[in-house]
Amino acid sequence: QDPDKAKLYEAYEFTGKLYQHILKNTEQGKQAMEYLRARGLSDKLIDTFGIGYAPSNWDTLAQLLEKRQYALPLMEKGGLLSARQEGQGYFDKFRDRIMFPICDWKGRLIAFGGRAMGDAQPKYLNSPETMLFYKSKSLYNIHLARPQIRKKQQIVLFEGYMDVIKAWEAGVTNGVATMGTSLTEEHTEIIRKQADQVIVSYDGDSAGQNAAYKSIPILEQAGFLVKIAMIPNGQDPDDYITNNGSERFVREIIDGAVPTIKYKLHYFRKNFKMQEDGEKLRYMKQALKILADVPSPIEREHYVKELSSEFHYSFDTTLQDLNEIRLQAEKSN
Ligand code: UTP
Ligand code: MN
Ligand code: MN
Ligand code: MN
Ligand code: MN
Repeated sequence: QDPDKAKLYEAYEFTGKLYQHILKNTEQGKQAMEYLRARGLSDKLIDTFGIGYAPSNWDTLAQLLEKRQYALPLMEKGGLLSARQEGQGYFDKFRDRIMFPICDWKGRLIAFGGRAMGDAQPKYLNSPETMLFYKSKSLYNIHLARPQIRKKQQIVLFEGYMDVIKAWEAGVTNGVATMGTSLTEEHTEIIRKQADQVIVSYDGDSAGQNAAYKSIPILEQAGFLVKIAMIPNGQDPDDYITNNGSERFVREIIDGAVPTIKYKLHYFRKNFKMQEDGEKLRYMKQALKILADVPSPIEREHYVKELSSEFHYSFDTTLQDLNEIRLQAEKSN
């Protein structure tokens, strides 16, 4: 193996332990600990996820790495340190941030996500891409979730670190996060062999819902059975658990995840003012277009029943319209 890589793995392991130690055992870590407590994280959870704290000094880590004879240019290339703009030397990349270790599937630490406690920007500072860390191939928590993913043949996909952690405590131990970036085909390659089913549990705000919508074709093309968990009022999974408790999160949000067709019908609804007849008709047209792509006749019938009864059209007329759209689509192919 590449000696630089080996050295960098070692440095990440050391750094992860250092940040944990500072969080748990030092005066410097006290405020960070209070922050985590206020967000509802127990000691056990903090340990399970190896959460730490990077102190606000400029070079705590840089000095310790130097003392241990790590090559500092390599540490900079590896994303732990930054080079000084003026003069020589290095300073710590992460300062005054809560540190979430990111591991590969074997559990080796390969990157960090660092959350600011105040208003510092960005809210989360993530490690850059390095020889250990490729964003489009990494899923937060894959190492801890893997056994459960395989056992349940199901994976729950979140946006963020806190969502994964709070869901884990709620008993959803097959959850991973794409860490804000959009889901890629490379991500699906990692999980394809581990599970048949994916539940997408992104944030309930419009950014999260758009991302969920976009993830559907990627996941379905990879061969997954996909369901979407919908969270009301723009909350994210972490917010929902904090506001409504673990039990309701599992029962209503995870177990209540809906098939993608149902999600698509819901997703487009917000664009129409249903009180107006013209808008209602435009929505019906859009909805039938979505249904036209559903291969199973039974499934089509199911949704035609739902739509027609909700909007007070006869089942037969609605089905007729749907078949018309299917016929036209066939012709144009
Ligand atoms: P969110 O903005 O939804 O944050 O980003 P969050 O996870 O709910 O964070 P809290 O609850 O306020 O602490 C979702 C994910 O996107 C990535 C992070 O992985 C985050 O968990 N992200 C977000 C970044 O990488 N940088 C950012 O500045 C913001
Ligand atoms: Mn979000
Ligand atoms: Mn969020
Ligand atoms: Mn959140
Ligand atoms: Mn938030």
